[in-house]
Formats: sequence, C-alpha cells, structure tokens
Amino acid sequence: MTSHHSQSSSADLSLNRRGFLAAGAAVAATAAVAGLPGIARGQPASDRVGTPAASALPKRRLGSLEVSALGFGCMDFVWAYGDRLSKQESVRVIREAFDRGVTFFDTAEIYGPFTSEEYVGEALASVRDRVVIASKFGFNVTPEGQIQGLTSRPEHIKRVTEDSLRRLKTDRIDLWYQHRVDPQVPIEDVAGAVKELIQAGKVRHLGLSEAGGATIRRAHAVHPVTAVQNEYSVWTRDPEHEVLPTCEELGIGFVPWSPLGMAFHTGTITPRTRFRQGDLRGMFPRFTPEAIRANWPVVELLQRVGNRKQATPGQVALAWLLARKPWIVPIPGTTNAKHMEQNVGALQVELTAGDVQDIEDGFGRINLQGKRAPEQLLASHDIGADLGTSSAGGHGRTPLPAK
Ligand SMILES: NC(=O)c1ccc[n+]([C@@H]2O[C@H](COP(=O)([O-])OP(=O)(O)OC[C@H]3O[C@@H](n4cnc5c(N)ncnc54)[C@H](OP(=O)(O)O)[C@@H]3O)[C@@H](O)[C@H]2O)c1
Repeated sequence: MTSHHSQSSSADLSLNRRGFLAAGAAVAATAAVAGLPGIARGQPASDRVGTPAASALPKRRLGSLEVSALGFGCMDFVWAYGDRLSKQESVRVIREAFDRGVTFFDTAEIYGPFTSEEYVGEALASVRDRVVIASKFGFNVTPEGQIQGLTSRPEHIKRVTEDSLRRLKTDRIDLWYQHRVDPQVPIEDVAGAVKELIQAGKVRHLGLSEAGGATIRRAHAVHPVTAVQNEYSVWTRDPEHEVLPTCEELGIGFVPWSPLGMAFHTGTITPRTRFRQGDLRGMFPRFTPEAIRANWPVVELLQRVGNRKQATPGQVALAWLLARKPWIVPIPGTTNAKHMEQNVGALQVELTAGDVQDIEDGFGRINLQGKRAPEQLLASHDIGADLGTSSAGGHGRTPLPAK
C-alpha cells in the first residue's frame, strides 16, 4: 500500500480545494482559446474530491452479486481509443485500482482481442478471492484475433469459457455476459448454456449486454440475470425507456458502459480534438467537431453542478449515475492511474435532489446532436435497447425456441 492511502480524506479535500481554485483560473483562461464558453480544453486531471482509503469503498448489489460501488473498465488498455498500453503498464493501473478499493473489473474476450483478459488475469491472480471479474462472450474470434461476427451457440459459449478462464488465470468467471444479442440463437439457449456452466462451477452469474426488455425477461425466465450492461450516461438515456424499468421490476443490477460519455463528460474532448487512427470516436456521429460544439452545453451543465461540489464534470457524471438507483454500478475506463483516482473520488460527490433536477432540466433544454453510435453498430443492439424502439409485446431480436 502506498503512502497516499493513509492520508485522511479531509486532508485530501483541503488540498484539493486549493487545487480546485487554481484550476478554476486556468480553466477560465483556456476557455477563450478553445472558443468555448465556460470550461474548455484541458480540464485539469488533478483530483478535486479526495478518494476514500483503500478497501473502504462502499458496496452495491447487482442482483445477488456484491461489488464495489464503482467498477473499473479494462477495455481501454487495448482497444477503442487509439492508445495501447503495455501489459506491464496495464497490470500496474489495474493493481492501483484494486489498491484504491475497486473490486469489480470489467473485460471481454474481444478487447484486444484476448489481451485485456490476459492483463486482468495477470493483475488479479494474487488477489483473486477478493475481486469480482466480469467478462463477455458472443463473438466469433479466430485464434489469430480476427473478429468474424456474432455467435452465441451453446457449444461455442462452452468452448470459449475455457479459453477465457485460462486467460483470466482463474477457475470461475464471476459475471459472464453475452456481449451482443445473437439474432440466430434463441436467448433461452444462451441462458441455458450459461446455467449449465454455473451448475458446473465455472461461472457464477449471468449477464446481458445491449439487450432490450423482452430479451432480458426471456433470459431471466431460464436463469436469473444478475446484471444488464448497456450504454448509459448523462447524454445517453436509452435504458430509461424500457431497460431500467425491466431491471427494477426483476431485481436485476445495471452496469452503465461508457459512463463518462467516452471521455466527453470530463471536458477533455473539444471541437479541436483530432482522433488518432484506431480511435473509434473518429467514426461516431457525436464526435464530429460540429456535434462536439453543439453538445458542449452538456459539459457546462456538469461543470456548473460540479462547481457547487468542488467536483470535476466527470465526477458529477459518475455521481449522477450513482444517484439514479442503488443497483447501478458504473465502470469508467481509463489507462491513467490519476484518472482512476479521480473517478473513484466520484463516490464522495453526493448530489441532492435539487442537483439531479438541475441536471434533468438543463439536459432537457439541450438539443443533442449525433447518434450514440454509427448505424452499423446500432443495428447490433437488441430491440428495445435503443431509445425510441420498444420490444413491448414482442420477443426481442432472437428467434423463439423450437417447441
Ligand atoms: N458492453 C459493451 O458493449 C461495452 C462497450 C464499451 C465499453 N464497455 C466497458 O465499459 C468500460 C467503460 O467505457 P468506455 O471506456 O468506453 O468509456 P468511459 O468510461 O465513458 O470513458 C473512457 C474515456 O474517458 C477517459 N477518462 C476516464 N477517466 C477520466 C478522467 N478522470 N479524466 C479525463 N478523462 C478520463 C479515458 O481516457 P484515459 O485513458 O486517458 O483516462 C477514456 O478515453 C470499458 O472499459 C469497457 O470495460 C462495454
């Protein structure tokens, strides 16, 4: 354990308060440069709100599974946003998250592919019994690492479970999500396969990702779904339409992915940001320079509420999710230990009902520009997973099982 863990949180807070005032001046100065009102490019990464001591993070329940109230997304080391970290650097950041009290780690077979699971396995092998590891199956990945579409056939699930267990250096996966609903395979068959893995002791809990209400219900009837992982954040409200009410009704936990809006909510993405090759945001409609400019009021809104709390806009974005429901557990992703500490600090940002209402009112006035993903990716979401589509009265995207 490093020395900063022993600092009292009040010492953290007073230090950060000073940092906050200095940062405020810097932010005001850079606003004009970026041509944006309010906060601008270079939102400081330094903590404004202290982080709780190691092992002291509050817990939350996803169905019957207890996890730290904030998890950690392990995709970004190897996938999605351009920069790749070495195994050694990734393992170090994952271990620092554990030292900060995070015990819920999110990965997937396709992150890398394969490498994110390997890094998670390496980082957590020695503390395996103290952490919850979530991973995901559902793509056809060749041994060479080429992703060739969706597949959730039961025999495929059983085979790749063995591969993931090996990479994760463990004998059980705590939460095994179907990554995307497979339109060829009845969801009952998928839930049935995971149920058998659970009975065999290789998996502990079933999860679904980018699933809509009807599919969640069908899977849950075969085996209790512990968590649904769909995109959800201040600017992505799709799950409010039918998925969150379904989870609430059935006692299923919810894990928002991209809870920081793929970094947009932190205020570090501006119209001048040029995405590197390999950065998925470069092809996302919400990340064109015009859309970033149009959507900037979202960051200003979070900043305004953050100013009352001495919190960064990113911390307010996470605190907003935590305030929605006690069974919601965000999994911010980062390659940067300082960012991880700042994100953990969001657990100390308590939003009042008035703060939440201000965010709702402010968001309601913003004319958001650009869909959350390109059409091709949206097409892989289940019916009801996206705002405006509903699986009510239907059966979702997968065929009904043969009678
Ligand atoms: N189920 C699914 O289909 C699905 C899809 C996508 C993601 N996920 C999971 O969800 C996790 C989180 O989603 P995400 O990584 O896409 O998006 P996110 O958590 O909303 O944002 C990650 C981005 O924000 C930046 N960031 C994080 N903390 C920051 C801070 N305090 N200050 C400034 N920048 C910060 C990161 O850059 P730095 O590295 O520079 O900090 C990264 O670019 C992933 O790691 C993955 O495990 C699941």
